[in-house]
Amino acid sequence: MLIDNHGRPINYLRLAVTDRCNLRCFYCMPHEGIDFLPKTHLLSFEEMLRLIEILAEMGISKVRITGGEPFVRKELMAFLWKISEIEGIQKINLTTNGVLTAPYIPELKQLGISSINLSLDSLDRKRFFEMTRRDELPNVLKTFDTILENDIPLKINSVMMAGKNEEDIFSLVDLAKKHPICVRFIEEMPFNGEGIKPEYFMSYTKIIETIKSKYPSLYKIADEANSTSYNYKIQDFAGSIGVIAAFSRTFCGTCNRLRITPTGDFKTCLYDDGKMNLRDMLRAGLSNEDLKEKLQESILLRAKDGFEAEKARKTSVSESMTTIGG
Ligand code: 5AD
Ligand code: SF4
Repeated sequence: MLIDNHGRPINYLRLAVTDRCNLRCFYCMPHEGIDFLPKTHLLSFEEMLRLIEILAEMGISKVRITGGEPFVRKELMAFLWKISEIEGIQKINLTTNGVLTAPYIPELKQLGISSINLSLDSLDRKRFFEMTRRDELPNVLKTFDTILENDIPLKINSVMMAGKNEEDIFSLVDLAKKHPICVRFIEEMPFNGEGIKPEYFMSYTKIIETIKSKYPSLYKIADEANSTSYNYKIQDFAGSIGVIAAFSRTFCGTCNRLRITPTGDFKTCLYDDGKMNLRDMLRAGLSNEDLKEKLQESILLRAKDGFEAEKARKTSVSESMTTIGG
């Protein structure tokens, strides 16, 4: 088992397979978008598979595929099938914006995907457009329906922003009334290509208060081990509600995750600025044993929490989430 310098078991890898995206979410990218990287800067699927194999040998058993938007990278499904064959990998999860995903859902079911996180910040077409700068709500809803039809565990991720999609909170909560899904509200973080925008910040306590104002029966339920969300139920709802204090960083004490960015930066905290570049090491010809040693060293130098990781950065937190993987 992989254990860090603070005694936290590590078994979870979040792998961002591309920095590209077919949406332009307000909280993730500046208006003009960001300059996407040339393909040679990105890890190839072969390189990613080698890294997953190495990490699986070290104790990683769960992989989340994220981005950018994973489905804008060609041949994603073939890559996912290959991950499903790696010894030791017991769970594959996916985070997607749902624009292109619907047609792939039956195949995802076949390969045994454990769960899907669908990003969805508004059920109102106009406000969805304001948030994402693209008119794609119908396609995202098609993905939503197809995931449920295929009985794949589903979580909705909604970034909550004061004065932006605050009024959507209740229609999003209501998705959990009929459907056995978890609707999770996320505090905005400054990973948007520009930096902090305090005017839109809505804290997790404010989010909970707002939900309680309509649903006073909101009650706390047990959180899964290593959960980043505080979880709640409302009487007679089929699903549950989660709140993620992504900016307040209340969950670092049980953090079990590592991250690899699309360019191969290895991160042991969402808020750090990268420990080393695995792509360069692979391309320089390092052996698996050497790579394991370097990974192990980094894992033994993990920051205690996201505040310590942020303090140790060379530059302030402002990179787009597409360059990290959420
Ligand atoms: N703050 C909080 N969450 C964000 N995401 C993207 N950018 C931000 C941000 N600045 C979320 C997306 C997606 C997940 C991968 O990360 O909504 O669900
Ligand atoms: Fe794309 Fe996700 Fe960023 Fe939105 S938050 S622009 S869907 S990567």
